[in-house]
Amino acid sequence: IMMKYQIPTAAYQTFRDYDCAYAYVMAQGAPIVIKEDGLKAGKGVTVAKTIEEAEEALKIAFEIPNNQVVIEECLVGFEFSLICFVNGTTVIPMEIAQDHKCAYDGDTGPNTGGMGVYSPVKRITPAIIEDTMNQVMRPMAEAMVEEGHSFTGFLYGGLMLTDDGVKTIEFNARFGDPEAEVILPRLKTDFISVIQAVMNHQEITLEWDDQVTLGVVMASTNYPASSTKGALIEGVENVDSMVYYMGAKRHNAQLVTDGGRVLIVVAKADTLAAAYEKAYEDVHKIHCKHLFYRNDIGKKDME
Ligand code: GLY
Repeated sequence: IMMKYQIPTAAYQTFRDYDCAYAYVMAQGAPIVIKEDGLKAGKGVTVAKTIEEAEEALKIAFEIPNNQVVIEECLVGFEFSLICFVNGTTVIPMEIAQDHKCAYDGDTGPNTGGMGVYSPVKRITPAIIEDTMNQVMRPMAEAMVEEGHSFTGFLYGGLMLTDDGVKTIEFNARFGDPEAEVILPRLKTDFISVIQAVMNHQEITLEWDDQVTLGVVMASTNYPASSTKGALIEGVENVDSMVYYMGAKRHNAQLVTDGGRVLIVVAKADTLAAAYEKAYEDVHKIHCKHLFYRNDIGKKDME
């Protein structure tokens, strides 16, 4: 659909056969992105830095008979998320957030559902946002109407600011996680009023808190390969920031792990640097033998 409506995205090809997919990878070289079809809980994408990593991802993908795999150009640049309230051709943008998809510091390690996030993102200027709305978000909503599949809901654009302009990495038909946890606390306009206005195709100007929100995800030690269940989490009651739970539960009145990404600590402050300090101060109050987190959320934008 992006090709048909000229929405900028990575060059790609789709495969159902290991040998053809492998030949394509060999011809293109690494880095290259392998995307498996189907629901994968945010773990269906391998950003292969080497041919060997790509080969491994293809082997796993084609263990499922007749699986569909998209192999695409690895976009390089500054990644950001733009989520819109959509109802047909009514498309209202939220503020930008930047997710950190790699598991470890310095954007290393496997791709995850997201290890930390902040909003707003200074590098993504109003001009870039307008361009993204005109080139990507509005055309996509209009394309769905044109195709007879008008969309109502949150349209999530996963985007890359490249030397060639903004390109689409992915769309999700939902709020982003952890993007929601830093965007919603900054929305000053009543959320229900926004939804009602969008449902009625009325104009609405969203008001946003100027403060910065920054969230650090605490994940099970082996995430994304596997997750820990039942490990005791202590110290959350000492945290001043907001804490949202993803893969945690109460067991015998104790808080324990129950998934890959376990919780996120979200701090709000006047600057990105202050939000960073506050979030990590609180992260350090939480103790669990089986959790890890990145230490550099938001750092790139402070340089
Ligand atoms: N944070 C990425 C996602 O929600 O898909």
